[in-house]
Formats: sequence, C-alpha cells, structure tokens
Amino acid sequence: MRHAMITGWGKYVPPAVLANSDLERVTETTDEWITTRTGIKERRVSHVKQSDMAMVAGARAIAAAGLEPTEIGLILNATCSPDRLIPASGSVIQDKLGATNASALDINAACSGFIYALTVGDQMIKGGAFDKVLVIGAEKLTPWLDFTDRATAVLFGDGAGAVVLEATEEEVGLMSFELGSDGSQADILCVTHSASEEPAQHGHLPLLRMDGPEVFRRAVVAMGDASVRVVEEAGLTLDDVDLLIPHQANVRIIDATARRLKLNPEQVFINIASYGNTSAATIPIALTEALEEGRIQPGANLVFAAFGGGLTWGAGVVRWGQRITPIAQSDVTLPDTDATALELLQPNIDAYGTGIES
Ligand code: ACO
Repeated sequence: MRHAMITGWGKYVPPAVLANSDLERVTETTDEWITTRTGIKERRVSHVKQSDMAMVAGARAIAAAGLEPTEIGLILNATCSPDRLIPASGSVIQDKLGATNASALDINAACSGFIYALTVGDQMIKGGAFDKVLVIGAEKLTPWLDFTDRATAVLFGDGAGAVVLEATEEEVGLMSFELGSDGSQADILCVTHSASEEPAQHGHLPLLRMDGPEVFRRAVVAMGDASVRVVEEAGLTLDDVDLLIPHQANVRIIDATARRLKLNPEQVFINIASYGNTSAATIPIALTEALEEGRIQPGANLVFAAFGGGLTWGAGVVRWGQRITPIAQSDVTLPDTDATALELLQPNIDAYGTGIES
C-alpha cells in the first residue's frame, strides 16, 4: 500500500523580534501578564510577503528531501493571511520556487490549516494522484494587529514552515487523522472587512476579532479529544506516543492537551515563547525545530493537534521514517532588514491607533 513519508522539512522566521516589552509601549499590557497567561515572550514581524516566507521554508524543505523544485507535483499552501485573495499565494510560491511542474492552491482552515493540508497531501499521494507534494504553513498576521485590542494583539506573529511528502511503500507517515469544523461558531474568531461580505473599501479596516476565553475552552476540549481518538485509530496506546507537536496558541492549551495524553514535559514540543501564535505555521516550524534539536528519533510516533478559526480542528498521528537529518541545505535567501518590529508595525498604529490612553 502507498504511504506518504515526510522526507523534507524547513522553516523561515523573519528577523525582526517583537518582545513583550515592546508591546508594553503600544498597548495596556505587561510582560508578566502575557508570559503567565499565554507562555509567549516574543514573536516575529515580517518585512516580506507571506509568499516570500513560504517560498523560503518550501525551498529548505525541498533541499532537505534532496529534491529539485521541478520534481514537486502539488503545492498546498495552508494560510489565512495570503498576499492577496486572488491569485492564491500557492501560485505565487510555485513561481518563486521555480516549481514549474506543480499545481498549487491555498487551504484556509486558520490555525488548523497545516493539519488539513497535510491530510489532503497524504490522501493525494495514497490515491495515486501525486508522488511528491510540498505542504506549507505560512502566515503574515501582524498587519491585522490592532493594539486597541490587547487580548488579541499580543498573541500573533509571522513565520513559515514546510514539509515534503513522498510516496513510499514503507508503513510511515500519517497513520490516522481527524478533521472537524463547527461553522455555527464562525464569529468567535474572524477577520472582519477583509472579503466580499464586508469589503474594506466601504471605509472599514480589516479587524482580527476573537472571543479568547470561548476559543480557549473549545480548543482544550477539541484538541484533547481528537488527540486521544487519533492515537486509538492508529492502533496505538498513549504509551506509544513519543512526541506531541501541538499548535502553539497558548501554553495552557498545550499543557491541557498533554495532560489528556498523559505525557511528560519532555514528550511535548513547545516553542511558543519565541514565536507566539503563527497560526498554520506553528506545527511545521515546531516540527523543524524538534528535528534540529534531536527530539525526534527514527520510527518515532508523533501526534499533531490544532484548533482555530472556522471553527476548525485537526489531529493526526505521524510515524517518522528512518532519516532525521536533511540531505541538503537550500541557499535561497531573502533581503534582510534593519527595521525594528515596532517600525514595521507603524502602519498598524497609524490605522488603528494604540491601546495606550494619552
Ligand atoms: N494584558 C493585560 N491584561 C489583559 C490582556 C493583556 N494583553 N488581555 C486581557 N487582559 C485582561 C482582561 O481585560 C481581563 O481583565 P478583567 O478581569 O479586569 O476584565 C483579564 O485580563 C482576564 O482576561 P481573559 O480574556 O479572561 O483572559 P484569559 O486568561 O482567557 O486569556 C487569552 C486570554 C490569552 C486570549 C486566552 O483566552 C486564549 O489564549 N484564548 C485562545 C486563543 C486561541 O487558541 N486562538 C485560536 C487560534 S487563532 C486562529 O485560528 C487565527
């Protein structure tokens, strides 16, 4: 039977760092509140487009797999913050990569997007339609940060991660998955005035709006339940789980999911302190860092779990292959920047104002 092995992985995080202490200057918050309520210490602000970050992460994943971009048959770009609604960023990334033989599309399931896209890529390979698929999770959410909404503005950052899936007869890759959606709760996490329903040109700015506590409650239940079910469906017990790589939205959600799976701290990968919530990018960035840090051994059983706008959720068990080091490195680079994160965010301040009462 055909399976889809992860053979390449890569990430791109922009250089400009927005620390909690920077946020104290533009909204009514404290490092202490953000750290204790979310686990976030800093996040990145991109000076380049979503498609640029995605292209670099994709190029690094393709090199790690020992492939050329022209060998990729399908690009799945999980994002809720594409450069533009038309064309899809997937096509822009395909061009920037020189992946001239690939078809490409965006998948928007917000923070669950990477697990959705991984599942689509996996099934495309298992069904025989493609042999080599690039799955990207990449977001540029910072243009929507509204510092007058301190409960939301402190959470998000920019970044990209990617994996290459290749057809194999080995019993590895996605062993089980669960995808879910509850559109009846769409309004508790949404971006207003960003599309045809309420176009921005009617004089309104796009606004990222979230009922944080409600999302929190639902995320804890959905990620925990789905994780337990995919472990069972893969024919495993909780004892067989080597590493949980969860969506990084809030360290308290991650801790609750880990408790449901009865995992020790060393069996959970957490990097939220460095990047905040990069939505669809959190899991492929975390996976790449887990490999770089030697946290994944050959044949390891990994659990991915995520929750986000839609509402959507997803979970999956991935059995790793034998290779845990990249075959090659990409030499693709992006222009650097001297701009600070707050300088890059000046357009937000001009548009939305600050949350500091003068
Ligand atoms: N700094 C200081 N105080 C704050 C801040 C802040 N940045 N934000 C909120 N507060 C205050 C509130 O005003 C409130 O004060 P009050 O008690 O005087 O009214 C107090 O802190 C508690 O606020 P809560 O909203 O109850 O805080 P909570 O502990 O729920 O944390 C948070 C809020 C961090 C947003 C949390 O609810 C959360 O992480 N939610 C889930 C986010 C998530 O998972 N998103 C999903 C993915 S996103 C996507 O799909 C794109």
